[in-house]
Amino acid sequence: MIALESVSKSYGDGADALRDVTLTIGKGEFVCLSGPSGAGKSTLLRLLLREEVASAGRVRVGDLDLATLGRDARQTYRRTVGFVFQDFRLLADRTVFENVATVARVMGVPRSQQWRRASGLLQQVGLQHRMDAYPLQLSGGEQQRVAIARALMNQPVLLLADEPTGNLDRALSLEVMETFRAINAGGTTVLMATHDLELIAYVNRRVVHLQHGQVVGDGGRP
Ligand SMILES: Nc1ncnc2c1ncn2[C@@H]1O[C@H](COP(=O)(O)OP(=O)(O)OP(=O)(O)O)[C@@H](O)[C@H]1O
Ligand SMILES: [Mg+2]
Repeated sequence: MIALESVSKSYGDGADALRDVTLTIGKGEFVCLSGPSGAGKSTLLRLLLREEVASAGRVRVGDLDLATLGRDARQTYRRTVGFVFQDFRLLADRTVFENVATVARVMGVPRSQQWRRASGLLQQVGLQHRMDAYPLQLSGGEQQRVAIARALMNQPVLLLADEPTGNLDRALSLEVMETFRAINAGGTTVLMATHDLELIAYVNRRVVHLQHGQVVGDGGRP
């Protein structure tokens, strides 16, 4: 599913954010990406979303070599990926419902289906009562849950989550993990970056540990 071959990433100043990373993740795996702040977790996820391009090495997802994708192919590819950003990136001028449903609208899903799926996901993350609110009217944890619902809207084959529970309390974090588990059980490959060791223990799956841009530990396949 995912193959990084000797991948390095430099942002042009300072040390490389990733250094010679080789990593394979199989279809259907649920992998936690751990490591201290600055280790390169977000960089690795951004490479997989093709927001950034590797400075060296190759990043492949399925049959695609991400470096070779043109603009249209990149768009098509991104629609198969769910992404929860560390900073949420919600559209401030759209309601919670619109933020979640937009992905499906772009893909031409009928409106009644959009409604059913978006409200179902908002219910799963406990926000059905806030569907008509705007992001800035929500707490950090609520915004994070909107971002999670949005990422799951297009039934992605790959879910990339960057500290998806960074603003949530323990109970909500575990609920989000249950949602991820269910998605994963449905066949979606999940890669989640987190510092949270308790959460990693709770998930109890493969753990890839990054430090200074290198893989220094890999818990193997479950
Ligand atoms: N856009 C950028 N421009 C320049 N340097 C960057 C950029 N993004 C990240 N870096 C640098 O790359 C390194 C890895 O950053 P990255 O954001 O991938 O780490 P992280 O593991 O996600 O950290 P955190 O846990 O704090 O989110 C850091 O040294 C960071 O300063
Ligand atoms: Mg990060």
